[in-house]
Amino acid sequence: MKYILALDQGTTSSRAILFDANGSLVDSAQREYAQHFPQPGWVEHDGRDIWTSQLEVAQTLINRCPDPGSIAALAITNQRETTVVWDRLTGEPVGPAIVWQDRRTADQCAAMRQEGLTDLIQTKTGLVLDAYFSGTKLAWLLDNIEGARFRAERGELAFGTVDTWLVWNLTRGASHITDVSNASRTLLFNLHTLDWDDDLLRLFNIPRAILPKVVPSAGQLAQTNPSVLGRSLPIAAMIGDQQAATFGQGCFQPGMAKNTYGTGCFMLLNTGSEPIASGHHLLTTIGWQRPDVSSAGLHTTYCLEASVFMGGATIQWLRDGLNIIQTAAEVEPLALSVPDVGDTYLVPAFTGLGAPHWDGHARGTLIGMTRGTSKAHIARAALEAIALQVADVFEAMEKDAGLTLTELRVDGGASKNNLLLQMQADILGIPVTRPKIVETTALGAAYLSGLAVGLWSSTSDISALWQEDKRFEPQWSDAQRKTKRARWHQAVERAKSWSE
Ligand code: G3P
Repeated sequence: MKYILALDQGTTSSRAILFDANGSLVDSAQREYAQHFPQPGWVEHDGRDIWTSQLEVAQTLINRCPDPGSIAALAITNQRETTVVWDRLTGEPVGPAIVWQDRRTADQCAAMRQEGLTDLIQTKTGLVLDAYFSGTKLAWLLDNIEGARFRAERGELAFGTVDTWLVWNLTRGASHITDVSNASRTLLFNLHTLDWDDDLLRLFNIPRAILPKVVPSAGQLAQTNPSVLGRSLPIAAMIGDQQAATFGQGCFQPGMAKNTYGTGCFMLLNTGSEPIASGHHLLTTIGWQRPDVSSAGLHTTYCLEASVFMGGATIQWLRDGLNIIQTAAEVEPLALSVPDVGDTYLVPAFTGLGAPHWDGHARGTLIGMTRGTSKAHIARAALEAIALQVADVFEAMEKDAGLTLTELRVDGGASKNNLLLQMQADILGIPVTRPKIVETTALGAAYLSGLAVGLWSSTSDISALWQEDKRFEPQWSDAQRKTKRARWHQAVERAKSWSE
């Protein structure tokens, strides 16, 4: 039996997962690492922690594997946008890794929006001009670390998103590369030419000498240095985590979408081989690029993406903020103890609202309470809020893509919650389906890697491996759905602009 070792470097932990040729999870290891919040709105990691935690779990799995010689390839998937800069000579980071959640460059982005750059940037990159992405984070590091800009211009420093940083370390500095899906989250990469863009580099003041080479998401991308993992392994896939989950969910055809219920919710829709510009503040992003057997060239798949900031984190707030549950699992029985929300709505805009509103000044709102409102109603309203936010971005996606979606594949921690998924199906009016393996991020990277080294021969092989765990059929009438969403939108309007 051949195996693929997938490395899933996430925002709060590094994981390694071993998959066999049936796509079954054979073994896994996980290691959390430190989060740093030096100022309000700032979120940092130490690049060394990212690497050492990832290395440790990879080594653990290799040591536990009965036949490490049968590991056919490595697959890398990662938290996206997080920005690392290091010294090419020593391999040491020259500053903190600035995490995707970090808001320190929000004012710079606002100033650039004032200058009227929004449209140009959306056209070239598919992104909104926001501090979420790497461009302004990289410029901040170059401007705030002594001597960094000068050294970057002389080619002494290297920039990378987390994929790049891991590959640099795995190859002991032999490969400075990033894949197209990660590059498409930097604000520096042109979605149409599939290359770094000189106009964007000028706008964000980034020297070309610091950038990695852009490679496809799958293929013979690099070879690990034998001293790192005790053997030399091909790195056959690199892909951002949300794109990997889309691949892992088997969303290979245009019109197929997945939603991940993690801390936030990330919905991606495969839109095929051309980028579709959003008219509803969604992101246009590269899904993956892989060898195309029919043309012997490369095929690029594009996606539309929507990020909802508060997904599973809403349940964490019930647990840690309100203390009305002790564990996340308790939310389901509590919410089920009442038949409905009793016209109570929770808009969890604790950190503003993401797509499709992008209102940084919106704040959390709980409305409609009466003397009869209990913690069970609030728990139920919290779950409904997650599903209602997902419905808003789902609708925006359908409009942007000009498609009517017929089902939604789901994964992520909160997708274990059956009540949430039933609510989702009711509110969307289409079936929601949960696969048996919900580790879709690592699985997607493993699939890409396994296709590249011949473990699977086509995406049809992989589609055949996708197995449904549970399907949730919509049970509401159109009228019920309409009323619920209209009432929710009234509540959302009340939450908007609150902190302005
Ligand atoms: O864009 C950020 C996303 O890639 C982070 O994912 O799963 O590490 O929270 P995760």
